[in-house]
Amino acid sequence: MTGSSPKVLPDVASLRAAVAAWRAKGEKVALVPTMGALHAGHVSLVEEGLRRAQRVVVSIFVNPTQFAPTEDFSKYPRTFDADLARLAAAGCDACFAPGVEDMYPKGFATTVTLEGPAKVDLEDHFRPTHFAGVATVVSKLLNQAQADYAIFGEKDYQQLKVIQRMARDLDIPTEILGAPTLRESDGLAMSSRNVYLAPDERQRAIAMFRALNHAAAKIREGEVIGHEMTEAREILVEAGFAVDYIEARHADTLERIARRVEGPIRLLAAARLGKTRLIDNIAV
Ligand code: PAJ
Repeated sequence: MTGSSPKVLPDVASLRAAVAAWRAKGEKVALVPTMGALHAGHVSLVEEGLRRAQRVVVSIFVNPTQFAPTEDFSKYPRTFDADLARLAAAGCDACFAPGVEDMYPKGFATTVTLEGPAKVDLEDHFRPTHFAGVATVVSKLLNQAQADYAIFGEKDYQQLKVIQRMARDLDIPTEILGAPTLRESDGLAMSSRNVYLAPDERQRAIAMFRALNHAAAKIREGEVIGHEMTEAREILVEAGFAVDYIEARHADTLERIARRVEGPIRLLAAARLGKTRLIDNIAV
């Protein structure tokens, strides 16, 4: 089913006006921040938004400050027309699509500094400037939209925890909600970067979900965490991954965890297949 096209809001003033008009009618608003190249995983966040609120705004902004100079900012997939078609089908009301000069005007000089879940030797170790860029742009988006809810995927689990912590610490009134990871039928987590995988890499990529799933099942059965994580790493290496990390962490703080009694556990992994870096995570 195809709905009507979402209204494209090109700047902060038009976003604020649209949200204010909805709120004046007593409607709740959910914001779904994205960098475009939308897939069914993003659409599932829109659907979650529509369960919570009468109106959903999706932002599309490929945020330069969260990419390191060596990363894929310039070749990050940009598919705006296809994105709008997907948003229409999903029943999204509006698409906020600011330009770089709207988000980072000349003289821009402020960055959010993070500790806690942003400094736990996971993504932050391999992408040391990443979360400052994410937190800065997300705090801007939250202030710009003034939505009741903002929805983020568990796919980027450390990002979700960093944003929840930031919103709490900075008294941002928007409620930050996590939504489950949408997967391909073979278990591979959907990602805008999956298009980079060559056919043989795409085959081998499912080892990441297999490794995490297997370890989670064994840990639930009471097996030793350290042993299961070593085995999970071996599964990835055998599939041809170069492993950045595959670890068991406390599901809220992301601190290291050695035994189940220490708290709820999340298994998190990042590994490279050829030039493509994949991340995934799973609850125990
Ligand atoms: P992006 O990678 O476009 O992801 C946008 C949102 O979609 C994030 O909350 C992400 O966790 C979620 N998502 C991605 N794949 C998913 C999947 N398979 N299932 C469910 N949700 C999924 O994450 C970013 O953009 C940026 O860092 C952003 C927060 C927009 C700041 O620039």
